[in-house]
Amino acid sequence: MRVTFSKYISLVACAALVAALGCEPPTPPGKSKSTTTAASPSAPSTATNPTASEPPTTEPKTTEPATIEPQPSEPDSPAPEATEPMTTEPATPEPKPTTPDPPTTSENSSAMTIEKAAFGKTKDGTPVDLYTIQNKHGLVLKMTNYGAIVVDLETPDKDGKLANIQLGFPTLEGYLERHPYFGATIGRYGNRIAGGKFKIGDEEYTLATNNGPNHLHGGEHGFDAVVWNAEEVKTDNAAGVKFTYTSADGEEGYPGELKATVTYLLTNDDELSIEYEATTDKPTVVNLTNHCYWNLGGAGSGQILDHELMIAADKYLPIDETSIPTGELAPVAGTPFDFTKPTAIGARIDEVKQPPHVTKGYDHCYVLRGQEGKLELAARVKDPDSGRVMEVFTTEPGIQLYCGNFLDGSASGGGFKQHEAFCLETQHYPDSPNHPDFPSTLLKPGEKYQSKTVYKFSVEK
Ligand code: BGC
Repeated sequence: MRVTFSKYISLVACAALVAALGCEPPTPPGKSKSTTTAASPSAPSTATNPTASEPPTTEPKTTEPATIEPQPSEPDSPAPEATEPMTTEPATPEPKPTTPDPPTTSENSSAMTIEKAAFGKTKDGTPVDLYTIQNKHGLVLKMTNYGAIVVDLETPDKDGKLANIQLGFPTLEGYLERHPYFGATIGRYGNRIAGGKFKIGDEEYTLATNNGPNHLHGGEHGFDAVVWNAEEVKTDNAAGVKFTYTSADGEEGYPGELKATVTYLLTNDDELSIEYEATTDKPTVVNLTNHCYWNLGGAGSGQILDHELMIAADKYLPIDETSIPTGELAPVAGTPFDFTKPTAIGARIDEVKQPPHVTKGYDHCYVLRGQEGKLELAARVKDPDSGRVMEVFTTEPGIQLYCGNFLDGSASGGGFKQHEAFCLETQHYPDSPNHPDFPSTLLKPGEKYQSKTVYKFSVEK
């Protein structure tokens, strides 16, 4: 996609007007056009196409990937209507009338395009960019190097209509305040560490307690709130951005200088692939994940309670009243946590809100059947209305199902309300450093932390 400077400015101005009127859920500017240039797709070795009625086997089947047909472009199609009235408060901060540099666009041989444009500045004046990547089927991925955040992911529905299916803000300003970790890369430790304390050998480390008595998502200033270095990446079948960040020894209380890399790629097989790597100079703990908030009906289209979810897990981790795992790996069978067969997220969510449960909905880690280190199907979600399907493959042993329980319509949460999105955060189990029997999150000098997750998109009529 080529965007002229004048068109870009008019798109930015148009989005600013919509945001200022506060009448629409956040949808960043720059609707995409689909390209139809021939390319040579290569079926990913990990692609599977499980039936909706059966949990997958642990071996992924290598059937024909369920790719999305090229669709005519709908550059000006509106975001889906919200089913509930929006709050009177503007959902997003006022966009600043910045004059961005003209975007640069590059193409590769497989009809992928990457466009880089200014996204604004952090509070200390550091410039931040927005990368827009489009694949040959017209899927659009927007990412920023602030927090290595997925800002937007546009995919077609069963009628070919594009919508952004990931919650976020239309401008950088929303991300600079404390927000619900929309689309963010989470580190050094995804989810909670009890009491903000853990030991390596005899040495005890103390972290910030930013979630009641516990440490959450890397602390006060986690990887979601730092500026990453960014490098555009192109392969025969994919394009994206490689983000790197060096976390200083002692940052947020964690030992060791940690060099972290996260590579986000949009492929021509309609996948968002995320690969994490890290090394350290002292023993430390690492558990990186991504915190996308998905709504397969389109961000702002209402609740996700009718989305049908399958999780390839026979066990989950019960939690205490502060959401720390008790240590038990409990069977899901016969409980509202059982998603071994596709089930509407909302079918039993009210049971999870009642004692003895302690949450406002699903906010639990599942013990995946797959073998750790092997990319295997972890979850599949279908929105029956739009026909959009998302499959999640991961090398991680766990997946956190969180259903936007704390979204309350406030501006700091983009105006989104409870259960307007679900998160499937692939990770090691919460509080692993304090549970020696959980898969280890310890990383030592000379070792390399490696993790991969693939979100694959398709439609089913
Ligand atoms: C946690 C939730 C938390 C949410 C947003 C999820 O990963 O499990 O408890 O509210 O992130 O921070």
